[in-house]
Amino acid sequence: MSSEQATHETVVKVPYIEGDGIGADIWKPSQKLLNAAISKCYGKSRKIEWIEALAGEKAVEATGEPLPESTIELIRTHKVSIKGPLTTPVGGGIRSLNVALRQILDLYACIRPVRYFKGVASPIKFPEHVDMVVFRENTEDVYAGIEFASNTPEAKRLRDFLMNELGSKGFHETAAIGIKPVSPFGSKRLIKKSFDFAIAQRKPSVTLIHKGNIMKYTEGGFNEWGYELAEESYKDHIILEETLAEGEAPPDNHVVLKNRIADAFFQQVLINPRNYSVIATTNLNGDYLSDALVAQVGGLGLAPGANIGDNIALFEATHGTAPKHANKDKANPSSLMLSGVMMLEHLKWAEAAEMVVQAIRKTILDKTVTYDLHRQMEGATLLACSEYGDAVIENLGK
Ligand code: NAI
Repeated sequence: MSSEQATHETVVKVPYIEGDGIGADIWKPSQKLLNAAISKCYGKSRKIEWIEALAGEKAVEATGEPLPESTIELIRTHKVSIKGPLTTPVGGGIRSLNVALRQILDLYACIRPVRYFKGVASPIKFPEHVDMVVFRENTEDVYAGIEFASNTPEAKRLRDFLMNELGSKGFHETAAIGIKPVSPFGSKRLIKKSFDFAIAQRKPSVTLIHKGNIMKYTEGGFNEWGYELAEESYKDHIILEETLAEGEAPPDNHVVLKNRIADAFFQQVLINPRNYSVIATTNLNGDYLSDALVAQVGGLGLAPGANIGDNIALFEATHGTAPKHANKDKANPSSLMLSGVMMLEHLKWAEAAEMVVQAIRKTILDKTVTYDLHRQMEGATLLACSEYGDAVIENLGK
């Protein structure tokens, strides 16, 4: 998987899952663009050999299963993969294919960069101040918990146990109950990824987002374990916000560690987005927060993401299958294109990654956009998904 050796060809085999709904629409131009950028940057010296991995509806048709073992094996073996969105089957079986993939492959960090592209309509005054990368814990929290429905024997039994044996003051007898597990192990490995990223990319700060004022041991624990990790292993690179005087700059090459309560942070990112850079947070907070941040800079059609573990990386758009727009050659493929950019950066093919970002920037500045951006942009030209892909390719290197 090395990217060096410009003199002879480096071929990286990358499994891809096309995805359901708009998946096929947005995958085709994304794949075409990534190939074009690599070829333009590196000529014949580097290449991606794509391997289709089946999942979702296509997999059900071919194998009867939504997530065949062979797909998991392909992703595990090749270590770097990319996917379109997958429909969550309604009722029974797997809770969500996406959650299943993250859990089976232990892809514990969900990484979502949120940046502004000039020209895109935004509900906030200074969208250009939004430049954040969210690290969302991917394996714990209520996603790994269990819920018991209202009025079930299980909920009643658990209520009795909590009240009689664990000192709970009690709650209504018809309450549904959910469990929220958050561990130092799960929190620290996620927070470590955010620290390493911030240090490597010379970002100004990492902010831990939590609701520790209410959930002291789960959300509060997440925050404490972050500070513990900074103290244990990052003394030379991380400085605590509270040790700096008002307006005092941190020492050179130091990242400032901050923490904010989740509700206050939602307000902060609207009012003072410039004060925040890398964000590390628990699973559910991260889910809410990344969609809210993305809305500040133009919506889901521009939102890339990656799910990363210790050895395996699976890149994917943040949004779902948008079924009402499926098979209409209409959706915005930028989300998946930018996920491809993250993949190129991961492969250390930085030149091609940058070339794609610049081409997307130019295409949007030219006001040649898909429906989602078009409806809020004055004087813009409406392009189909595939036409937009061709416009971005046309702008490569310009
Ligand atoms: P969604 O993200 O699919 O769509 C919400 C709305 O966002 C769409 O109606 C559309 O207006 C807009 N949108 C999303 N992507 C767009 C794009 N590329 N271009 C233009 N507009 C876009 O969310 P929804 O409707 O809640 O979920 C639909 C399905 O997707 C469900 O089955 C859900 O479980 C699944 N899903 C899958 C995800 C994944 O594969 N990682 C993530 C989120 C949802």
